[in-house]
Amino acid sequence: MTKDPTGSRQTRHELSDQAASPRFLASDNTSGICPQALEYLLAANRGDVPAYGNDDWTARASNRFRELFETDCEVFFVFNGTAANSLALATLCQPYQSVICHQLAHIETDECGGPEFFSNGAKLLSVPGDDGKVAPLDVERMVVRRRDIHYPQPRALSITQSTEVGTLYRPDELAALREMADRHGLKVHMDGARFANACAALDLPPRALSWEAGVDVLCFSGTKNGTAVGEAVIFFDRELARGFEYRCKQAGQLASKMRFIAAPWLGLIETGAWCTNAVHANAMARHLGTGLEQLGLTPMFPVQANAVFVDLPAKAQRYLKDKGWTFYTFIGDGGARFVCAWDTSKEAVDALLEDVRAGLAGVGMQSAG
Ligand SMILES: Cc1ncc(COP(=O)(O)O)c(C=O)c1O
Repeated sequence: MTKDPTGSRQTRHELSDQAASPRFLASDNTSGICPQALEYLLAANRGDVPAYGNDDWTARASNRFRELFETDCEVFFVFNGTAANSLALATLCQPYQSVICHQLAHIETDECGGPEFFSNGAKLLSVPGDDGKVAPLDVERMVVRRRDIHYPQPRALSITQSTEVGTLYRPDELAALREMADRHGLKVHMDGARFANACAALDLPPRALSWEAGVDVLCFSGTKNGTAVGEAVIFFDRELARGFEYRCKQAGQLASKMRFIAAPWLGLIETGAWCTNAVHANAMARHLGTGLEQLGLTPMFPVQANAVFVDLPAKAQRYLKDKGWTFYTFIGDGGARFVCAWDTSKEAVDALLEDVRAGLAGVGMQSAG
């Protein structure tokens, strides 16, 4: 018997049943380790190697990132996305400065004040924007609004790619943001929790959505892409990376057994799984979005990456929850969020659609299909 965090007791048999028919679409964090990452993790588990990142796995993974991004970037590994974003932003800002971001940005709504804490007080200034994206004019308005001594001086722009609502910034949109950022001396940070999904969806190489598009520092998630743990913080402006290793250490983010973060990343990059995993997750989200439309439901945002948001009647939500589906309703502007991952199967999406259809019928909503 195993005790879950809610206090209920589940047998091993019940747990393996759940694993056999996954109904966890609340986040791509619910998925396991993909085979490629696992294979490299196991390979790294042979013998002893130097600690704290002074090992070959870490060196090889860092070099592979340089090849993948086609530039001589600085690469660091931390445990999670909150630390990656917080420490990267802390590097960009003095405590009296500020970071402009979308009002739905993870750094604003879901990091428990981490960026402010690690920057010793730099303030987040949030702006609205359609489809989870910031527009240059809105950012600029926030910059020029005040110039006086009392205002937290804007120093960085943070954008999320793909966004918190599963939409994408195209390269021309990124270029326009960079142009505005340059006019106001802002550094550009990208929360790339789903950066791989963006590259896959736009069919663009990583460089086109990062340094070529004006990003100074990218937090690239491995966890959501198929590793167990670990994000890469990639500085394209190497000058900004000075001292970053000390920030990681001070924040408790320097892994002593770094090889176990680096090796799975190496697996993702060397096998191409970083991209094929994202292609698959995006395809499953498209399948879900199309299926919902056939049921007469329009997703709340264009389905461009691996997330689908839909406004479901409360009773239909209840029905799905009773059927064991997990999804979030607190992200973005409400609605049910379903996120597909490298291991989301077409069968699971079809089963979900069937339950949505039944759930809608139960509340008297006629489905189109
Ligand atoms: C947009 C975004 N950024 C960052 C993160 C990283 O969060 P964590 O600290 O849980 O790894 C997440 C995780 O859900 C996310 O969705």
